[in-house]
Amino acid sequence: MSHDLFEAARGAMQFAHAPYSKFPVGAAIRADDGKIYTGANIENLSFPQGWCAEPTAIGCMIMGGGKKIVEMAVIAEKLALCPPCGGCRQKIAEFANAGTKIYLCDEVGVKKTMTMDELLPFSFKTEILG
Ligand code: THU
Repeated sequence: MSHDLFEAARGAMQFAHAPYSKFPVGAAIRADDGKIYTGANIENLSFPQGWCAEPTAIGCMIMGGGKKIVEMAVIAEKLALCPPCGGCRQKIAEFANAGTKIYLCDEVGVKKTMTMDELLPFSFKTEILG
């Protein structure tokens, strides 16, 4: 059921610290431990030091004991179907499988479902690094 993830992402978006872009984003992860971990974007006066909602949620998942992303929802109040940025795709991929579902939302619910492989085809992988 993805609606609970949508609601968690929408709730997380309220915590965004986005005074510069005024573009709040929320993310919610259902992890392999069954828990939902959430995050919002956190900007900084030194603009490059800010970060996206997805890594906030990933950090919460790791520190909460979750190891894998089972499914994930992303929402932005000013952009329906806000897609995770390129860097976030790589960060999500670290904890996902090719078939992991990413839900892109609008203000009422999940509007588009994509797999990790659709979001980040031909991703960086090498056996040299493990
Ligand atoms: N943002 C995210 O939080 N996630 C994304 O995948 C796209 C962009 C944030 C970063 C910045 O705080 C604001 O949206 C505008 O780029």
